[in-house]
Amino acid sequence: MCGIVGYVGPKSTLDVLLGGLRRLEYRGYDSAGVSIIAPGGQLETRKKAGKLDNLIAEITNHPLPIANIGIGHTRWATHGAPTDGNAHPHLGGPTSKLSLIHNGIIENFGELKAELAAIGTKFASETDSEVAAHLIAREFETTGDLPIAFANVVKRLHGAFTILVIHEDQPDVVLAARRNAPLVIGLGDGENFLGSDVAAFVEHTKRAIAVGQDEIVILRAGSVEIRTFDGTPVTPVEFTVDWDASAASKGGWSSFMAKEIADQPQAVADTLMGRLGSDGSVRLSEIDGLSAQDIKDIDRIIMVACGTASYACDVAKYAIEKYSRIPVQVELSHEFRYRDPIVTKNTLIVAVSQSGETMDTLMATRYAKEQGAKVLAICNTQGATLARESDAVIYTHAGPEVAVASTKALTAQITAGFLLALFLGAGREKVSTTELRRLGHELLKMPAHVTEVIENLDLARKLGKEMANAKSVLFLGRNVGFPIAMEGALKLKELAYIHAEGFAAGELKHGPIALIEEGQPVIVIVPSQRDEDSLHPKVISNIQEIRARGAKVIAIAEEGDNQVADYAEHVIFVPQSESMFAPILTVIPLQIFALELSTAKGLDVDQPRNLAKSVTVE
Ligand code: F6R
Repeated sequence: MCGIVGYVGPKSTLDVLLGGLRRLEYRGYDSAGVSIIAPGGQLETRKKAGKLDNLIAEITNHPLPIANIGIGHTRWATHGAPTDGNAHPHLGGPTSKLSLIHNGIIENFGELKAELAAIGTKFASETDSEVAAHLIAREFETTGDLPIAFANVVKRLHGAFTILVIHEDQPDVVLAARRNAPLVIGLGDGENFLGSDVAAFVEHTKRAIAVGQDEIVILRAGSVEIRTFDGTPVTPVEFTVDWDASAASKGGWSSFMAKEIADQPQAVADTLMGRLGSDGSVRLSEIDGLSAQDIKDIDRIIMVACGTASYACDVAKYAIEKYSRIPVQVELSHEFRYRDPIVTKNTLIVAVSQSGETMDTLMATRYAKEQGAKVLAICNTQGATLARESDAVIYTHAGPEVAVASTKALTAQITAGFLLALFLGAGREKVSTTELRRLGHELLKMPAHVTEVIENLDLARKLGKEMANAKSVLFLGRNVGFPIAMEGALKLKELAYIHAEGFAAGELKHGPIALIEEGQPVIVIVPSQRDEDSLHPKVISNIQEIRARGAKVIAIAEEGDNQVADYAEHVIFVPQSESMFAPILTVIPLQIFALELSTAKGLDVDQPRNLAKSVTVE
């Protein structure tokens, strides 16, 4: 949460900062602000509550001078309401020469604030961040060395933070520190950048360095120095960003979400690319960190994730158990971490995260590692903390996901989950080579099937628009359709702000059926009629039970299903596929449904209220 950008170099600093903030706005959009140091040495700050456009209007009314150094911030409020005063940057010191931006939470800010208040410091905001600004400014007055003063203070802070600082008296340097929150350096030619993620600067450079835990960066136009909080020099490892700025722009679509839904054939294809051989072999070279013996020794898999990513795990569980016969447990990261779970060295933790920065998931994996477990990440973001802290990573290649509601990252995560299932099935010799070859072949057909779904979404769009006044929508599914029902409900809650619940269809008569009354919309994921094991007749019975009580049923079913039409008001058909892999298809009409319903209500689909893309606080 919160987007951070820093720049030092010859370009128009304001353009670099605002461009970076525009691409980071998905991380938080309660307020935004920038500070620059003009060539004459004057620090100037503009900040405004609300979205980035409010800040741009403020700068238009009160222009900033040309500058070669600056920092910018887009906020997701934690301490203090989203007001102009609480917006970052915050100024420190009696003469306000220091400017600071912060992402995270300083947990011991209360005692630090009391310490400052006792010596007469006046505060301009209710934030925890301002405390750090005053402490660093005071420490600089004492030591006269900005990097040392900065290190002395960040060592005293508890919690999670990325902090960037500039100071009028040192107008050529941006200082940054990272603990439990993301920070990446962009390397330019005679210029350098800092960002919460590479989106902040990918328009200018693809050369990047991920900053490690408890490290400080001293950034100048011509040099980058990294030290630990204790002053030990760090040798950086550079990586190249594998996508360009156009991938993170709307490219003519009405919203990022609409674009990202349409990106899904590519996201699935790119995630499969090079990983399935025609002989049925699954190549996950990234998992080389886990030896063949490690894989044979696994006695249990625990998948940890939050929100949409946890539904990808729920789907993967069915596949991994079926093909590898290894028991799988899916846990919400925050629940797993704090309940003394049983983890041994033969437990494989699979942590799934688009951003790779979700604090709950990071804490869960750190805990599991402490217990001796191996951690395999499924992650969409190069250089992310989760990827660096895991023993092995399967990257999903969905490209940057900007809309707050996850779409293409989910289908890519599910795809990666299927690859892992086949890989483990082969490694444990639980699936014959012939069957593996057949499944691999079916998986490779999925990008084309996804394209077909996307080309035939008119009915889902129409129904979404028509239901703009619905007060509540229920979703039902069985087996792999159950997590998709929950995902459909989550999308509707977060985008259209209406009550929605996903249920296992078999659970209905154990309680939830009492919710059904005349006209209640229910969306049902219907499994394949062709697959004897797919529970098709049972789901048809469930539909009959709710229709008898007045439900208005919309079914998502496979083409060729000649029964379902008799039981539903509307049927949205998706192509025939291996029934295990169908979630990659059935989720798409639900994404469109939420997008259209939200749009019809006049809401912002890319930036729904109270949310941020990357949840970097617990
Ligand atoms: C919902 C959504 C969230 C994320 C969750 C985990 O549309 O996007 O539920 O899935 O916050 O985020 P990552 O995958 O970045 O760990």
